[in-house]
Amino acid sequence: MNASFYSWILIYKQIMKENQKKVWITGASSGIGKALALKFSDEGWQVAVSARRVELLNELSKKENIFSYPLDVSKLEQTKEIFEKIKKDFKEIDLCVFSSGIYERNLEKEINVESIKKTFEINYLGTVNCIKAVEDYFKNKRSGQLAIVSSPVGYRGLPKSTGYSPSKAALNNFTQGVYFDFKKFNVKISLISPGFIKTQLTDKNEFPMPFLRSAEYAANKIFDGLKKNKFEIIFPPQIAFMYWVFRILPNKVYNFLIAKFVNR
Ligand SMILES: NC(=O)c1ccc[n+]([C@@H]2O[C@H](COP(=O)([O-])OP(=O)(O)OC[C@H]3O[C@@H](n4cnc5c(N)ncnc54)[C@H](OP(=O)(O)O)[C@@H]3O)[C@@H](O)[C@H]2O)c1
Repeated sequence: MNASFYSWILIYKQIMKENQKKVWITGASSGIGKALALKFSDEGWQVAVSARRVELLNELSKKENIFSYPLDVSKLEQTKEIFEKIKKDFKEIDLCVFSSGIYERNLEKEINVESIKKTFEINYLGTVNCIKAVEDYFKNKRSGQLAIVSSPVGYRGLPKSTGYSPSKAALNNFTQGVYFDFKKFNVKISLISPGFIKTQLTDKNEFPMPFLRSAEYAANKIFDGLKKNKFEIIFPPQIAFMYWVFRILPNKVYNFLIAKFVNR
């Protein structure tokens, strides 16, 4: 085969690469974020993955189309620098999914101020840092999509959850607010609310988790929901229904039911 044939293949590959859709996923070293990175890669997307555990990201980036960008989302300047790096390498970013989060279950049974601060710094302010880092890029581009992984537990208070649930409540409110701010710039915002998903985060729970699903199930649901540009992506359906009811119940009824049936 002659040299010009190979040049055409190289040009074709370059065009394909430039037309590839591109996503940045945080919290991608394990659980839902990792399953989502693999799903996007399987679907032919170019994927930038971030989290703190470098060795796990390096392992993940052995897969075609996945590239590692280690990051601690609680550090605003670092988050901005990493996004600049990704922009430089990828040229375009179509979608960001912010999935980083922590849950210090054993410290939540009483009010542990240090643990609550840490949880807010990562779950809430860490996500705010990510949105801040990408804000100008997406607003100037006037297209694209940003997704925030929160939790249904953010909708109403629960016993023995003094840091995690309130951090998700703040995130739900923030996400709904920025939905309006970014809509003016044609940038779509999605709020992702997974039910119980089997990951390192829920492995700490010693109570039976209703309707537990795998991280791959969550990744498929998130991928489909984002494709449909949904604002709220809540799953599985049983949890979606349960929280639809919880959200409209008067306090008196909700408080009675939780006090009677939730013993965590
Ligand atoms: N599993 C569930 O049932 C469930 C339900 C509702 C919502 N969620 C939410 O889903 C998201 C993912 O959780 P998961 O269940 O997949 O748990 P996970 O496996 O523990 O994943 C959490 C991810 O967040 C990353 N992370 C933690 N702190 C970070 C920081 N400071 N900077 C950057 N990355 C950080 C972790 O990586 P490093 O430790 O390497 O940094 C990890 O990749 C969380 O926001 C969680 O609240 C989970």
